[in-house]
Amino acid sequence: MSRSFRSLLVAGAAGFIGSNFVRLLRRTRPEVEVVVLDKLTYAGNLANLAEFERTPGYRFVHGDICDVALVDQLAADVDAIVNFAAETHVDRSLMDPYAFIETDVRGTAVLCEAARKHRHQVMLLISTDEVYGEVREGRSKETDPFRPRSPYSASKAASEHIAMAYAESFGLPLLVTRSSNNYGPHQYPEKLIPVLITNAIDDRPLPLYNDGSAVRDYLFVEDGCRAIDEILFDAPIGAVYNVGTGAETTGLQVAEAVLDIMGKPRSLIEFVADRPGHDYRYALDISRVTELGWEPQVSFAEGLERTVRWYVEHEGWWRPLKSGEYWDYYRRNYRPLVS
Ligand code: NAD
Ligand code: DAU
Repeated sequence: MSRSFRSLLVAGAAGFIGSNFVRLLRRTRPEVEVVVLDKLTYAGNLANLAEFERTPGYRFVHGDICDVALVDQLAADVDAIVNFAAETHVDRSLMDPYAFIETDVRGTAVLCEAARKHRHQVMLLISTDEVYGEVREGRSKETDPFRPRSPYSASKAASEHIAMAYAESFGLPLLVTRSSNNYGPHQYPEKLIPVLITNAIDDRPLPLYNDGSAVRDYLFVEDGCRAIDEILFDAPIGAVYNVGTGAETTGLQVAEAVLDIMGKPRSLIEFVADRPGHDYRYALDISRVTELGWEPQVSFAEGLERTVRWYVEHEGWWRPLKSGEYWDYYRRNYRPLVS
């Protein structure tokens, strides 16, 4: 079974994963028209989509997923919505939770309402493994309960609840992905891996919270986008999928690997105050998504090398982002590090 779409609304695709997903879609399925809706927050960047400007079958709309009239108008002309749009950074959610509740929860409700009204084929919500909360032992299955512990993960859990309520109450044709930590080209330099790489390029300290022992499952973004594509086109309606590699890597292992690839000294690592409510481990059972025929193809060693090379070769992409508001955020988050 495989679906076909004439046209997709992809919300939040000026960000990291969404722009990588549009790149995959345009390359592999050029017959599908893509309408991108993005508010261009600090994390949204038109440079991520520059190669598609003025190409046939692609349109960018600058706007907010919370704008009911705009979303309704755009939804009238497409067969499905894929929602990447969200406030996404845990540390920022500890400083300004309201923005997360507005976009992640209310914005998802606006998209669900439009998808229901216009009888879309699919509403695909891009969610996160963080909805399960910290997992000290074992692996989270899709049927496990939600135990979110940060304003970010609580807002993502709430967005899933809203979407699932639409599926139950109105038959919304919902699909959900719960992914682990994506990394790769075009990631805004506030998440761990691009912070470490761009700081190392400048010989700045590499900040690790507490002792750097928190475990994540790092997924190369191209692999993550292939899973989203597989689920969008082939998964049975109503299904939820964990997406990850199954590997476990600590922050300290990531920092050491970055420094080794770049030939920089380990003394650049600096242990800093912990993130409040820090989840020390996420781990996913990925058997359901592998039954669809997907599996990760890029090892962490290869993905990290490719990512380091991309940041080294694209200073013109990230350097302008590390200015102004970025340093206000950085000082608040890593106060002891910045003089
Ligand atoms: P990102 O922060 O790089 O990009 C988010 C995008 O959403 C930006 O382009 C931003 O401008 C846009 N946006 C924010 N608020 C908006 C609004 N109100 N209306 C329209 N656009 C808005 O995010 P990302 O890392 O690419 O994550 C994409 C999605 O995947 C998010 O839903 C996130 O929760 C989820 N996710 C991310 C990861 C990860 O490791 N990055 C892992 C699992 C799930
Ligand atoms: O797990 C999926 C989630 O991964 C996504 O839903 C989120 O949108 C995404 O931001 C990410 O959340 P994390 O909190 O796991 O990612 P982050 O890169 O912020 O942190 C990864 C780990 O590294 C975590 O244990 C905290 C630690 N860390 C992070 C930063 C920014 C540090 O030690 N130092 C840092 O400077």
